[in-house]
Amino acid sequence: MNPDKPMSKKPRIHIIAGARPNFMKISPLVEALHSRAKDDGGEVCPGIRIIHTGQHYDPNMSDVFFNELGIPKPDYHLEVGSGSQAEQTARTMVAYEKVLLQDRPGLVIVVGDVNSTLACSLTGKKMGIRVAHVEAGLRSFDMTMPEEINRKLTDAISDLLFVTEEAGMRNLREEGIPEERMYFVGNVMIDTLRKNLLKLENGDFSPSVPLKSFLQSKGRYAVLTLHRPSNVDRKEDLYRVWSAIRGIAVDVPILFPVHPRTKNRIEEHAPDVSNISMVAPLGYLDMLYAVKGATLVLTDSGGLQEETTALGIPCVTIRENTERPSTVDIGTNYLAGTDPGSILAAAREILSGHPKKGGIPPNWDGHAAERIADIILREMKRGGGIR
Ligand code: UD1
Repeated sequence: MNPDKPMSKKPRIHIIAGARPNFMKISPLVEALHSRAKDDGGEVCPGIRIIHTGQHYDPNMSDVFFNELGIPKPDYHLEVGSGSQAEQTARTMVAYEKVLLQDRPGLVIVVGDVNSTLACSLTGKKMGIRVAHVEAGLRSFDMTMPEEINRKLTDAISDLLFVTEEAGMRNLREEGIPEERMYFVGNVMIDTLRKNLLKLENGDFSPSVPLKSFLQSKGRYAVLTLHRPSNVDRKEDLYRVWSAIRGIAVDVPILFPVHPRTKNRIEEHAPDVSNISMVAPLGYLDMLYAVKGATLVLTDSGGLQEETTALGIPCVTIRENTERPSTVDIGTNYLAGTDPGSILAAAREILSGHPKKGGIPPNWDGHAAERIADIILREMKRGGGIR
């Protein structure tokens, strides 16, 4: 715990973050809740505590995001680290239960779909604490993905469900979630993107050395990320995807910030990397800068599908399904699957200079976190169980 922060008698909210994609989601939430707490003089607004589970712990997977996004230092760090699905989830639950026993909040806010999301929502709920899930309702309908299991279970026990896109509202209704628990608020990840785009546009930012050296000699380029277990863990899956990537690299240089899960597998199974620049994971601003200037993005990430849609950059998603259908129906995303021919065809359509045109999904306007904070505070004023 942060010993400098005195325990107050004010009601408290815990905001949970554990893995890289969580940090850009909590940033605008922390800001919106803090700004309302200031306006209200502490009468109704709660004290906020940030809990970092430690699921991601490398500085370039964690600290860089806190620094760049101005997220306050976590009040608790659970240091759970890596492990199997069960080990990581169980360690997080045990460690978070200890925190809850000494610092019981009125509400636990979890974001996204990582193991920390499920572990902390389950622990909080079992201790009789209300749970809010930000990015609720997304469904890939693929129960082989650990994230799909995390999403469904978290939604089933959450009291407040904050939804990013219309399909999410439909999915929750179909699962029988009562209407009064769900709110179509938009996308907090896009709040962060819009705010930080301004920093890039104001010229307040200079890319890091590895990014600068990649960009120096390049005209058109692609950005690649790859880390889903279904694409990288087994040799034959990685080999299939890699054969398409190599085909695309013949036409366009590729910047590849490599996730730790993927690094060893690539070295072992896919050594041919000509025209592919492998670099360590990039910080938030570097990545935004790289994606904003790219001709196309190739990815199996969830967040990048949304960020490319918000930026109007063509994206080829190397997965059989997406839990974010608005990025395909409205945005710039091509759901290519994992067949090398389909991946190549989508990339070539984009590189031919005629990518599909995209729009912005409803409520992706940079104000999602403000809506969420207002709903949480309204619930508090109504005595909605947030003590
Ligand atoms: C996790 C999330 C995934 C999310 C991804 C973003 C789950 C089930 N998966 O997957 O939804 O898209 O984060 O990155 O929660 N490692 C390091 N340093 C770190 C963290 C991890 O080296 O800071 C290595 C470890 O060897 C670890 C492996 O990466 O075993 C995978 O990490 P893990 O947290 O298990 O899952 P991710 O693949 O990162």
